[in-house]
Amino acid sequence: MARKEKESIVLDLGTANPKQALFYRSRALYTAYGGAKGGGKTHAVRVKAVGGALRWPGIRILIVRRTYPELQQNHIEPVLRLVPPEVASYNATNRVLTFTNGSVIRFGHYPAGAGEREYQGQEYDWIFLDEATQFTEQEFRLLGGCLRGVSDIPKRFYLTCNPGGVGHGWVKRLFIDRIYRRGATEEESENPDDYAFIFASVEDNLPLLRASPAYLKMLSALPDNLRRAYRYGDWNALSGAYFSEFSERVHVIEPFAIPKGWRRYRSMDYGLDMLACLWIAVDEAGRCYVYREVHKAGLIVTEAARLIRENTLPGEVIETTFAPPDIWSRQKDSGRSMAELFLQSGVPVMRADSARVHGHIMIKEMLRPRSDGRPGLLIFNTCRTLARDLQSIQADELNPSDCAREPHEVTHSVDALRYFCVSRTLKGERSAPDLAPDEADYDIFMTGGEATRDFLTY
Ligand SMILES: Nc1ncnc2c1ncn2[C@@H]1O[C@H](COP(=O)(O)OP(=O)(O)OP(=O)(O)O)[C@@H](O)[C@H]1O
Ligand SMILES: [Mg+2]
Repeated sequence: MARKEKESIVLDLGTANPKQALFYRSRALYTAYGGAKGGGKTHAVRVKAVGGALRWPGIRILIVRRTYPELQQNHIEPVLRLVPPEVASYNATNRVLTFTNGSVIRFGHYPAGAGEREYQGQEYDWIFLDEATQFTEQEFRLLGGCLRGVSDIPKRFYLTCNPGGVGHGWVKRLFIDRIYRRGATEEESENPDDYAFIFASVEDNLPLLRASPAYLKMLSALPDNLRRAYRYGDWNALSGAYFSEFSERVHVIEPFAIPKGWRRYRSMDYGLDMLACLWIAVDEAGRCYVYREVHKAGLIVTEAARLIRENTLPGEVIETTFAPPDIWSRQKDSGRSMAELFLQSGVPVMRADSARVHGHIMIKEMLRPRSDGRPGLLIFNTCRTLARDLQSIQADELNPSDCAREPHEVTHSVDALRYFCVSRTLKGERSAPDLAPDEADYDIFMTGGEATRDFLTY
């Protein structure tokens, strides 16, 4: 809403509720505004961004949401309704709103798995991460790296959040539990004074309660854990990350040359939507190292098999390739199974157990520290997708002993790892002679039928 008063234009940014006012006034480096659904958080992001663009000529602002449709609906369209074209012009290609005073608001989406380069090299004075619990800690920190520039404008990062979601754990740690990491130097440590939290309750949002009285009823009718999380903003109601024992700092390591005597395995999840294949070495003590990964969508079996072979070095002896049981079902037209096709394409596969909860508990077991203090499973830092997916996958809200099947894209590499972890493997033995590839009798591993977990017990 704009009205011309003499030569100046006045924007009506509405009236803030008390929590929104706290959010607008916060001076912390990182301010999280979170809690119940419907408290007015997204609204506050829009108002604060537009207000900032007017208050600080030349400011550079980034508003981020996970998906483009959410960004369009929650930010681009409402902000364009709020700001008349005399005040700012919008470039739909770059999704940048440029104000006449030189300020810019860029609207960005950040799809899961978009990678580190998405926002690399960009500079902003203020960044808003709406629905921050949908992002991993690494994505949050990568975005934080864009908070820089030579202007005098104070650098700020604003987050909004509800409990639950991929980022539940790190948001809770930083803003609710306030547990901070100490690094070797002050610069590497998290400073508690940098983090402020404003608790949102749905009761804060009187305009919403007046206009939609049924909204509260809907929140109250949710299953207990969801009601506690969304109606009351209770951060203990949802468990968040399923593999809570996984930590980048503990489990992700610099690559090294795998010693010759260690045994190597592959483990894959396959579907037309995605091939995920992991290469895993096992040392003399039985500790496992995921040292290579391949992910590719849209491959038919022969292409998937070729990609797996191409990523296996000449002379690299793979003991066994574990695969999901569903590829053993016979195709109606040919009567053959995909497992047979993999075999014919040079990738003999072994049927893994599909028990989900058992398999996930086996992964958790392997992630736990062993008697020497190091975990049983380590991941080379070149295997980014697996490390990301292990952090991203959520506990199933209805069955917390299992992990969620959504978002589907983060399940493939975890499934591949599960097929490995439920299958028993040999420890590496330095004395064992290296088999030349042509001597490897893969067929003995190709059961084609029901293989129990004991099948590989030697
Ligand atoms: N101060 C305000 N004045 C007028 N309307 C408001 C105000 N704050 C929020 N609203 C409206 O209330 C509704 C819910 O607000 P909003 O979408 O910002 O909530 P939210 O906390 O982001 O919810 P969720 O947790 O579901 O993302 C929206 O229609 C929004 O425009
Ligand atoms: Mg919102």
